[in-house]
Amino acid sequence: MIEQFSDRTNMASNYQIVNQLDTKENFNEIHAFALHVLVGLSESKKSLSSKYFYNARGSELFRKISFLKEYYLTNSEIEILQSKVAEIEETMEDREFNLVELGAGFGRKTKFLVDHMLSSGLKFRYVPIDISEGSMDELVTELGKTNPELEVCGLVSDYYNGLKWLNNRYKSRNFVMFLGSSIGNFTHGESRVFLRNLWNSLNNGDKVLIGFDLKKDIELLLSAYNDSEGVTAQFNLNLLLRINEELGGEFDLNKFRYFSTYDLFAGGIKSYLVSLEKQEVYIEKIGRSFSFEPWEPIHTEYSYKYLVPDIERLASETGFLVEKHLFDSKRYFVDSIWKVYKPGNLLTE
Ligand code: TRP
Repeated sequence: MIEQFSDRTNMASNYQIVNQLDTKENFNEIHAFALHVLVGLSESKKSLSSKYFYNARGSELFRKISFLKEYYLTNSEIEILQSKVAEIEETMEDREFNLVELGAGFGRKTKFLVDHMLSSGLKFRYVPIDISEGSMDELVTELGKTNPELEVCGLVSDYYNGLKWLNNRYKSRNFVMFLGSSIGNFTHGESRVFLRNLWNSLNNGDKVLIGFDLKKDIELLLSAYNDSEGVTAQFNLNLLLRINEELGGEFDLNKFRYFSTYDLFAGGIKSYLVSLEKQEVYIEKIGRSFSFEPWEPIHTEYSYKYLVPDIERLASETGFLVEKHLFDSKRYFVDSIWKVYKPGNLLTE
């Protein structure tokens, strides 16, 4: 795996692009996307990963979702970060640390926290990691203006490569934030793999703060993922638009509609794009057509919801000790703070 960095080190606030080039397979990102689409649309149950939602337009659409009244998740978490800031700061011991944020987006939730931590005199470097260069550029530029004294080291990367890069670069204490219920977009198996990888790339005593959306009245869940303005539909349809633009696809967006439902056994919202008629769609860069039956779904995303005991089990099974759970006043959402536990690892103590 080769890593390429393009630097903008002339600024205190800057970002770099961590690209992965798998030399063995000689894949670049477009190849990886094409392969993903080929595999996902060839299965009998078609699926496409929500990982590909977040190009510049997708990140912008998600920002719009976060302001929708039905989408309670963002407001609940902002309430937690603002009202429990003292409890969050208490967990940071008196040492310099990296404040890492996975999937930072435009950093809307973190700006308050960063300002507060600076005024509390905490010493840290802010390391936002996000797959969208557009939102990273905006975030870093904005922070450079509002907090010129803050060291910002943005990484345009997926989580895995961003953490690997960070781990090789800075040996400081880490406080890793994974907000917004993004963990809910992993299946239960994937979340364990993800957390164990995270644990592996961190040192004993490092902390993580993870946002989980809690199980609640199903009507509330359904309306959060079926907003009246149709922004969520556009957000999902953006996947097809991306295939058109980047892979020469010929999807007619009017022939698909967004649908989401709560799966009670799975404990999560499942989102789909549904073909409205029988159709064949050619994708130039893949060099073939894919056929769709009327009402055939493409699964796009899971958004799993949790109970507190599920969260505690997840922490202990992946090597973390739960320090505290911070709830909003309606108990819709929880930001859970965990400590990395690596007994006997004295060198990293
Ligand atoms: N991580 C967000 C969530 O699961 C992303 C999201 C918001 C989303 N609305 C969506 C994903 C609708 C799929 C469909 O809440």
